[in-house]
Amino acid sequence: MKDQYKERIEQLLSKMTLEEKVGQLKQCGPSLVGAFEVSFEELLDMMFDGKISHDEFERLMSTATQDYHEEELRSGRIGSYNGISDAKTANRLQKLAVEETRLGIPLLFGYDVIHGFETVTPIPLAESCAWEPKLWEKTARMAAEEATAGGVHMTFAPMVDVAKDARWGRISEGAGEDPLLNACYGAAKVRGFQGDDLTKPDAMIACVKHFAGYGAAESGKDYNRVDMSMQRLWEEYLPGYQACIKAGARAVMPAFNDINGTPCTANHWLLKDILRKKWGFGGVTVSDANAIAELTEHGIAEDLAEAAKKALLAGTEIDMTSNVYAEYLPELIQSKNVKEDVLDEAVFHVLHLKFEAGLFEHPYRTDEVCKQHTLLGKEYRETAREAAAKSMVLLKNTGILPLKKEMKLGIFGSLAADRAEMTGAWSIKAEPGNCISIIDACKTRRISYEYHPGTFADSADKKAIDEIAKQSDVLLVAVGEQKNESGEAASRADITLPLEQLRLVNELQATGRPVIAVLFNGRPLALQPLEEKASAILEAWHPGTEAGNAVMDILYGDINPSGKLTTTFPYTSGQCPIYYAHMNTGRPGGKSKFTSKYLDTPLEPLYPFGYGLSYTEYTYSDLTVQVQKDGFRVSVQVKNTGSRDGDEIIQCYVRDINAQRARPVKELKAFEKRTITAGQTIIQEFIIPYQTLGYYDQEMNYIIEPGTFKFYVGGNVKNVLECEAEYQN
Ligand code: BGC
Repeated sequence: MKDQYKERIEQLLSKMTLEEKVGQLKQCGPSLVGAFEVSFEELLDMMFDGKISHDEFERLMSTATQDYHEEELRSGRIGSYNGISDAKTANRLQKLAVEETRLGIPLLFGYDVIHGFETVTPIPLAESCAWEPKLWEKTARMAAEEATAGGVHMTFAPMVDVAKDARWGRISEGAGEDPLLNACYGAAKVRGFQGDDLTKPDAMIACVKHFAGYGAAESGKDYNRVDMSMQRLWEEYLPGYQACIKAGARAVMPAFNDINGTPCTANHWLLKDILRKKWGFGGVTVSDANAIAELTEHGIAEDLAEAAKKALLAGTEIDMTSNVYAEYLPELIQSKNVKEDVLDEAVFHVLHLKFEAGLFEHPYRTDEVCKQHTLLGKEYRETAREAAAKSMVLLKNTGILPLKKEMKLGIFGSLAADRAEMTGAWSIKAEPGNCISIIDACKTRRISYEYHPGTFADSADKKAIDEIAKQSDVLLVAVGEQKNESGEAASRADITLPLEQLRLVNELQATGRPVIAVLFNGRPLALQPLEEKASAILEAWHPGTEAGNAVMDILYGDINPSGKLTTTFPYTSGQCPIYYAHMNTGRPGGKSKFTSKYLDTPLEPLYPFGYGLSYTEYTYSDLTVQVQKDGFRVSVQVKNTGSRDGDEIIQCYVRDINAQRARPVKELKAFEKRTITAGQTIIQEFIIPYQTLGYYDQEMNYIIEPGTFKFYVGGNVKNVLECEAEYQN
């Protein structure tokens, strides 16, 4: 097919100086000048590290003078920005680019719109627990509508890094441990962000990240090495990114980590051989922040000039904030150390994307978006509330939930009143004041309650807590993590609840009143001590703007909980990484001594993958599998045996029981969320194409072997019906 932009781009390229070309690869953030002489990224870091509060961050952002490097911009030496999210600034800078640079090439504005913009939806890990691609797409569309009104053209999302280790803080940013779920989630996000036409003013380019395998960081420590077999990389880690490319994502971010010794930023095999040649990707690659410069730290570049050369030759195009290309590429090219063609190819991709996004025709698009959409509007809030409730997972319920209106609540824990903490990691644009806490929701619902933050500063606290507990029918305790305890650079070796929180739970339980725990956190936690004490546990994650309302919707039964875990919850931190799709070993864990297990911890997780309770119950029966021309037809009956209507997430897993290479004990192959009314029985059918049952052999050939496959269908990975069928080639 003819490339409609090729000619115009080539004409433009022929007019560009070396500096202007390199400029197109330069992405910078505004630097703050004044009292705080740090970059936007450093300031963000300080907020995430808890060195400054969110309020302080906002204050500095609004008062400090921002240096947008306008002189460089005017001379055509900046092609894009990261970190600008207000239309006024974006349009002002765009005007400089379009009207005052020699060639008038428009700028591209990127921003981390990870789970919402002004209206914040649940963190991705939470939202994945809704198992609902339509919802994932809808919230991405909403984020795009809001962010484009703020001048943003590209989001650095979705993150589809399969994450099997709860210690890794960034597990919060993706769809959990399963490749299929990450692929479905990522593709839905790309569709939602980009919409059906990139030239529309509210379309937002998706930059898929972090390519590749970032979620497999050794020991769950952020940025750490990734060392894995090619088979595993292809079977478990690459499908998510590939699904996003197939869905049309126009940008890709190479990951910080190395894979088997080669940092992704300088990984030709990954960025050229797989991404461009094998998958046919024609968009742009954008380095992770400062990642090109960091090639020296990896120890694969002697100096920054070599880092620039290696990254560009490998296929990293836009340099996010390290400034290494701008400093070293002109000289590298002039001295013929790097061929200009390589630079031209990268610039071609950048200009192409700018054309595709319609930026040459409509460089200022924010007014149009604003006319169509109201930021933080009623509809957006409703969607955020729906998404939050659908993301929550009921982990335990002895029968105390749903609550009755007349019950008096004792509410404890600072997270119950803290609006800012509700938005979770990567919600930089969120205004804490716009969030609804549990306490806010209680007020709106006119619930009779008393609140204590649950800290034990002195004996008066204990007395007050006991007093409130005595006067209450049920005790609601909000525990978990602050938002800066998950996300980037927030790995934890110990993922149990802090002692202070456990003490609070113990004290409350000792009063004899039923304790309901609401968890706000960004990763799976080791919850055994809580599980022993609480009568009910609701995993609310970091739910976003409508947090409190959604929690109350579930606790009072206005909404029947339906979320199911997309990540395994261990008993103890020491079980990490723990995930359902493991191999069996030659000695599967059991009672006898010489089997694969721990001496001091159960073999099983505390809550398995796919798990989540409802206020009704479902019974599975009549599982059958038929061999059809192009796939297995799996059929199962599911009956709602309770007295409430509900949404059940039906999961289908497969095991290849005899293969050339050992295969996982179960792999998710299909899922469907179905509404089942009280007493109703539904039939759910899945077609599992044979093509999806293969794996990579020793020589990296994808093979689908004839033989017996086991099928498991149920409401979580553990409680399943099973049957077998033969695949004959
Ligand atoms: C993160 C990316 C993010 C980038 C830009 C980096 O530190 O790893 O995920 O998109 O910053 O803000």
